[in-house]
Amino acid sequence: MSGAPDQDDGRDRPEVELSGVQETLLWNLYQRACEAREPGTVLEDPRAVELVDRLDYPFEKKFGPSVPFLAQGQALRVRSFDAAVRAFLAEHPDGTVVALAEGLETQFWRVDNGRVHWVCVELPETAELRGRLLPDGARQSTLVQSALDLSWADAVDPARGVLITAQGLLMYFQPAEVRELIAGCAERFPGAALVFDAVPKWFSARTLRGEMRTAQGYSAPPMPWGLDAGELRTVRSYHPRITDVRELRVPRGRGFYHGALSPLLQRLPGLRNMRPTMTAVARFGS
Ligand SMILES: C[S@@+](CC[C@H](N)C(=O)[O-])C[C@H]1O[C@@H](n2cnc3c(N)ncnc32)[C@H](O)[C@@H]1O
Repeated sequence: MSGAPDQDDGRDRPEVELSGVQETLLWNLYQRACEAREPGTVLEDPRAVELVDRLDYPFEKKFGPSVPFLAQGQALRVRSFDAAVRAFLAEHPDGTVVALAEGLETQFWRVDNGRVHWVCVELPETAELRGRLLPDGARQSTLVQSALDLSWADAVDPARGVLITAQGLLMYFQPAEVRELIAGCAERFPGAALVFDAVPKWFSARTLRGEMRTAQGYSAPPMPWGLDAGELRTVRSYHPRITDVRELRVPRGRGFYHGALSPLLQRLPGLRNMRPTMTAVARFGS
């Protein structure tokens, strides 16, 4: 299977010029699209496929040909975010989802129940790109600012329930920034929850040494915040209102690793820190 066609097919091909952490949104998009193209995919994501086909960006030259194992892993992580949003909407059908650093995520269209209110918080260059490619609909809005500037919270109506997501974001911040952001969310949104993912310390250290490179020469940006699954409970100390922090279940996928080993590793204390990523939820008391 091939990833994005790099040839010109005559359609409008919007240019993308991003670098550093912002460019990583294209890696995520590419992985979701690659997995969505697989027969028996674990993630239906036609918009991601359409975007990868359309954008003027050399996905395959930059990130390499599709590696189904990696793409499926990324898609299963995305599925655990989707499951958390759906569970929230089952309890709060008119609730507000605040998607910090949404990039070109197409989650809104995967989980939309026709009533949810959706707020994206993104940096200017990414917000501009997203606005061109995935413009906000009637129940969506975009706040153009850093997620670290908690003034975004002033624009979020907490009345119908709030779920905050930070997918592929916190690892790029300094540990003190992560602490402050999570504490700020807990302070501003009693009764809400934050769903986030984290890389373990060994993975963070490798990015800091510049060792996470593709054969094509693309280097993942430094990820200064690493958190081992075994120390997840320490997040509770960030703010007294954080009542519970727990890892989310990884859905079962195809093949030996994603179908059997990964869900097992998640339950084994000695081995769970070896996985390259985990998804968790922090709940805030009222
Ligand atoms: C790995 S991508 C994740 C995108 C999307 N959440 C996904 O999973 O496909 C990282 C994203 O973080 C955004 N970002 C980086 N620093 C940010 C900040 N300080 N505030 C808000 N967004 C930020 C980038 O623009 C980019 O969209």
